[in-house]
Amino acid sequence: MSNDISLNDISLSTKIAGIALPSCIYNASGPLCSTADELHAIGKSASGAILSKSATLAKRAGNPSPRYIDTKWGSINSMGLPNEGYELYANLSNELNAYDKPYFMSVSGMSFDENVTIIKELANFEHISAIELNLSCPNVPGKPQAGYDFEQSRSLLEAVFAVATKPIGVKLPPYFDMPHFEMMASVLNDFPIAFATCINSIGNGLVIDTSLESVVIKPKHGFGGIGGDFIKPTALANVRKFYTLLSDKKLAIIGCGGIKNGMDAFEHILCGASAVQIGTHFMREGTPCFKTIENELKSIMKEKGYHSIDDFKGKLKDI
Ligand code: DHB
Repeated sequence: MSNDISLNDISLSTKIAGIALPSCIYNASGPLCSTADELHAIGKSASGAILSKSATLAKRAGNPSPRYIDTKWGSINSMGLPNEGYELYANLSNELNAYDKPYFMSVSGMSFDENVTIIKELANFEHISAIELNLSCPNVPGKPQAGYDFEQSRSLLEAVFAVATKPIGVKLPPYFDMPHFEMMASVLNDFPIAFATCINSIGNGLVIDTSLESVVIKPKHGFGGIGGDFIKPTALANVRKFYTLLSDKKLAIIGCGGIKNGMDAFEHILCGASAVQIGTHFMREGTPCFKTIENELKSIMKEKGYHSIDDFKGKLKDI
């Protein structure tokens, strides 16, 4: 039966906040999405959407280098929010609209008020489809991750939804304890959140160069966010848990963490993801990775007899 399906009959299209994406596979905010050229390259690729680097009010140089290191199993980074400032990413929205896919902006203000100001301003840009509000940057010295403070997250969402005119989603840090999943879910359940992206890097890991007997990145004495292979089980758990806890809502879960092939994407969707983002692997491979993962996922779906991601989304079984 499965062999009766042609690859042309398989669709990876999906919807986030009612917005259609031609493919459920796109870039994570962070790698290779900070400049106009990089965002255009994502536009020209098979990526199902274009997502900007997390933007602050003013341009930032970020932390000192080296600040990103790739290893066999993944990456460590402490970039420190280098970005061009939100206006550049907002002003690019008109030209990025030429690509047949939505443009999302990631927002990570340096303060409560900065987030509110940026989100208010973005109301003026027709071709920004939605905003991913970053509650989970681990790399700015002295700034805790908002998503680990449930009351602070609630206050920020109250302020943001008071001014927002566009769909707003959140980028969450990984949670590791059952009560923490429930506490964040009860915050999110009180707002009309369009999507939740699970997960950001696992914050404040440490990678060591044993020959030098040193850390491998300069900022924060070597502490940084971990991405790649090692974080996939944590990412899947977060996708699954939030899919289950927020399943009575219209919100989409977006899976991010450890995806480098079609089977990884399949696992995230099985846990409940409506779309998947590629971070460490995109940094390594560049824009061709979107087509490769797309082809691999389609082959898996053909083998299993699935025509669309809705045929298996969230249908992970217990044993
Ligand atoms: C940075 C890292 C993150 O994980 C994030 O969500 C936002 C910014 C950074 O260091 O630039």
